[in-house]
Amino acid sequence: MKEEIHIRIREEELYKRIAELAEEINRDYAETGVRLLCILGGSVFFTCELAKHLTIPVTMDFMRVSSYGDSVDSSGSITLEQEPHMSVENHHILIVEDIVDSGRTLAFLANGLKKKNPKSVKVCTMLDKPDRRVTPVEIDYTGFVIEDYFVVGFGLDYAQKYRNLPYIGELELKD
Ligand code: IMP
Ligand code: MG
Repeated sequence: MKEEIHIRIREEELYKRIAELAEEINRDYAETGVRLLCILGGSVFFTCELAKHLTIPVTMDFMRVSSYGDSVDSSGSITLEQEPHMSVENHHILIVEDIVDSGRTLAFLANGLKKKNPKSVKVCTMLDKPDRRVTPVEIDYTGFVIEDYFVVGFGLDYAQKYRNLPYIGELELKD
């Protein structure tokens, strides 16, 4: 199968929108500071770019869950592979995700974190694909809403490839 990538969101657009999201987060957490919880590995690029624009007190932690194998469709079952390193209790947690698709991963993460007595849990996602939602989830900050196509780049992968692309592209699989 041949893989072709068509640019959907350019680097400049991403940077501009992420800076806007950071402004909102700066305002909302001005009094309290925030702990960014980067969901590995897809949201690494997004988390870094977002964090660079935050002027409030910030700590950063990382979690890993897996839901996708090497295909473009969610397996439906989610495994927790890496817990946050720091305590969640009594902190304002902001989950930073690359994309919300079915919503299963986010629901799993948010439910798990809420049981650890945080002061608050909110969600910031770079991309939202609402057409594919299976589990309803609340999102507090959204970069871009996209239609139902498979994206790669800026951290997002297809079979672990293309994470390094500086833009968001649509992946087309051709025979
Ligand atoms: P969900 O549990 O179906 O919402 O899927 C969430 C996870 O699946 C995301 O954090 C991504 O890692 C992955 N994912 C969903 N859609 C895409 C896509 O279009 N490209 C790459 N990864 C995706
Ligand atoms: Mg992800």
